[in-house]
Amino acid sequence: MKQRIVILISGRGSNMEAIVQHCAEEGWPAEVVAVVANKPTAGGLAWAAARGLATAVVDHKAFQDRAAFDAELARVIDSFEPTLVVLAGFMRILGADFVRRYEGRMLNIHPSLLPAFPGLHTHQRALEAGCKAVGATVHFVTPELDHGPIVMQSVVPVMAGDTEDTLSARVLRTEHVIYPLAVRWFVKGQLRVEGGLVVQADGASQVLM
Ligand code: GRF
Repeated sequence: MKQRIVILISGRGSNMEAIVQHCAEEGWPAEVVAVVANKPTAGGLAWAAARGLATAVVDHKAFQDRAAFDAELARVIDSFEPTLVVLAGFMRILGADFVRRYEGRMLNIHPSLLPAFPGLHTHQRALEAGCKAVGATVHFVTPELDHGPIVMQSVVPVMAGDTEDTLSARVLRTEHVIYPLAVRWFVKGQLRVEGGLVVQADGASQVLM
């Protein structure tokens, strides 16, 4: 049976695009069954709809509290019967109950070398800290923000004169490589979590330098 992927976005959706394209081009045993956004203005929605994908919006502004938003989001996600939920630039903090519902089958990408710099403004904070290398992390989602078993990381150098923009562009190019790869491993059943750590069944390198 094919794995059913629901992708959650808040903005332009370039990671979503990369996953949809790799899934189709590489013939994964999976299909992206829906793209769900928490903002009606999320740019990625138009791309997904033009590609014939089901789209939905659960506008967080329409809900009084996080629990009500989370409940409606879960209802919409579950209506697509996913086996995997992929957070791709989804900028809402999710409650512990929501996260537990998808435990072991929800991935996120974060533009830092976790556990360094969880949260916002990662590239600016890395520049201010004088980091010589930065990167991105794909991880299973746990109730703690930007935390959870690490599936794959990319590492890129910080160059003289880098700004938040140049650094985020360099990291984003690697996100488009590591996120599809990590999702491919998941849908092919090549990932397992042992003692809080991810094991890749084929022993493939889980770092992109
Ligand atoms: C990415 O840098 C991702 O790591 C972060 O938000 C950005 C989303 O970009 N969480 P996009 O919407 O996938 O283009």
